[in-house]
Amino acid sequence: MLWSSPRTAIRRALESVLAPQLLIVELDNARRVDTAFIGRLKAAKFETVPVVVISNLLDPETVGALVRLRVDDFLSSDCTIGEFHKACQHALKQHARETPGRATSCYSFFPVSGGCGNTTLAIQSAFLIGRRNGMSNVCLVDLNLQDGAVADYLDLAPSFRIDEVASSPARLDRQLLDVMLSRHSSGLSVLAAPRCPARHINVSAETVALVLGLLSQSFSTIVVDLPKTWHAWTENVVWGSNRVFIVSSFTVPALRQARAVSEAIAGVAGADAAVSVIVNRYHESLFGGGLQKKDAERALGDSLAGFIPDLGNVVLEAINRGLPLSAIYTRDVQDERRRSARLARRCPQTASRTPSQPYRRPPAMELEKASRPVKGLGAGEGRAGPAGKGDTEDPRAASWGGVRKGLDV
Ligand SMILES: Nc1ncnc2c1ncn2[C@@H]1O[C@H](COP(=O)(O)OP(=O)(O)OP(=O)(O)O)[C@@H](O)[C@H]1O
Ligand SMILES: [Mg+2]
Repeated sequence: MLWSSPRTAIRRALESVLAPQLLIVELDNARRVDTAFIGRLKAAKFETVPVVVISNLLDPETVGALVRLRVDDFLSSDCTIGEFHKACQHALKQHARETPGRATSCYSFFPVSGGCGNTTLAIQSAFLIGRRNGMSNVCLVDLNLQDGAVADYLDLAPSFRIDEVASSPARLDRQLLDVMLSRHSSGLSVLAAPRCPARHINVSAETVALVLGLLSQSFSTIVVDLPKTWHAWTENVVWGSNRVFIVSSFTVPALRQARAVSEAIAGVAGADAAVSVIVNRYHESLFGGGLQKKDAERALGDSLAGFIPDLGNVVLEAINRGLPLSAIYTRDVQDERRRSARLARRCPQTASRTPSQPYRRPPAMELEKASRPVKGLGAGEGRAGPAGKGDTEDPRAASWGGVRKGLDV
């Protein structure tokens, strides 16, 4: 916001119910009356807003007045863009440090490929943070503005009228945005737009910044589900995030892409922001071959945040019931899965069994079949495999060797 006269600034500020994240005031031939206006502005509406002043006249009297007013920074009008940018960043950071209780944390999730689990992990993270910090302090924002799935996954009615907001952003304020939020029964707030297939909505970076800025006044944590496509506003969202999680599936192409994406995003993220990769749907091969954890660790190095196991139908069940994963994936289910994984190692036919299906000991015939060597795999490559129909043509078995080689780039 660049205002040319402090008086206009005051008038606009008093008319507006919004407090900006940063106030930049340009003084043209600063006079005492102008600096006094800044003082009144700070005392009235902008007590908690950092202020940066640009002036073509920085004589000792003006500088003294600005110092007394405790503005966050002042620059001469002939400053470079770089100096201006640095001053704004410094003022914002200083302000966030001084008012830690008010600072909003923003966690963004960026998918490496379609269907890699970005939405699932964003939802689950919002619930985990909410459980720790209070659900009412967390807002989950679905920025897949045309085909977002967050509302569906949580069985909510999406109410964010992005088309209206995009066409008249000036109308948007906290009250209006509040009406556009959906509330999950847990207390979590969700900002999600209704699906609008076969239509293009042009949303500017300013509109998205305004929405997130308003949300940051009401919530201490914002979790953002970003789309894979890079929009005009994506860089801004990334820049404003404290943490960016790049979500990758556990495949060679996805891991390669994740490495490239994390480097690119680290380049546009804020200096203090952490950018890391979560490898989702990680699963160990029953036979110890194929893509392994250490391959991903080697490929991603320090940018690896961790692995989320393939939870099979547990996630689908959560989605179909509109519940967070944690409501389905209870300790009992985890114990059951561990038990089942142990059994599956001994008896691969049971590997695809879901936790909701009670374990039934396979008949002796099947156990015998399972322990036969898999045709097509040489000695030592695998002792057992999916028996029966697929035992000669398991497509995974055929590609495992190539997969591992492929990752050693
Ligand atoms: N850890 C997991 N274990 C098992 N299934 C998972 C896991 N994570 C995600 N899924 C499943 O993967 C599918 C895609 O998940 P999700 O919609 O979260 O991905 P996305 O990256 O947001 O996809 P899109 O590109 O459509 O936005 C869902 O059916 C979900 O159930
Ligand atoms: Mg998604």
